[in-house]
Amino acid sequence: MEIKLQQGRHIGHIVTIDVAPEQRRRGVGRLLMNAILLACREAKAESLRLEVAVDNDAALAFYKRLGFTETGRIPGFYMGTLDALTMELQFGSGQAKP
Ligand SMILES: CC(C)(COP(=O)(O)OP(=O)(O)OC[C@H]1O[C@@H](n2cnc3c(N)ncnc32)[C@H](O)[C@@H]1OP(=O)(O)O)[C@@H](O)C(=O)NCCC(=O)NCCS
Repeated sequence: MEIKLQQGRHIGHIVTIDVAPEQRRRGVGRLLMNAILLACREAKAESLRLEVAVDNDAALAFYKRLGFTETGRIPGFYMGTLDALTMELQFGSGQAKP
C-alpha cells in the first residue's frame, strides 16, 4: 500500500494484497485491510483506490463487501490482455472504519 499526494489530497493506493491459498476465508484479508485503513486514517487520506482483474471474483467480492465501488475499467491493464476494474473506497461514509 502507498499513500500518494495528488493535487494536495492524500489518496491511498493498494498495489496488491495476497493471502496464502490455504489461509483464505479465515478473516486474514480483513485483518490486512484493517491495517491499511488505519494507515490511511493516520495519513488523513480522502480515499483508497485499487485495480483488480475483471475475472478475479474472490477479490471483487472481498472489496465490495468492504464497501469499495467500481469507478472504471482499464483495458489490457494486466500484460496487455486482461482488463482491470478500478475501485475506490471514500472515507467519511462510516463504512471504512477499521
Ligand atoms: C482477496 C483475498 C485477499 C481475500 O482474503 P481472505 O483472507 O480470503 O478474505 P477474508 O477471509 O477476510 O474475507 C472477508 C470477506 O470477503 C468476502 N470474500 C472473500 N473471499 C471470497 C470469495 N472467494 N468468494 C466470495 N466472497 C469472498 C466474504 O464476504 C468474506 O467474508 P465471509 O468469509 O465471512 O463470507 C484473497 O482471496 C487472496 O489473497 N486472493 C489472491 C490474491 C488477490 O487476488 N489479491 C487481490 C489483488 S487486487
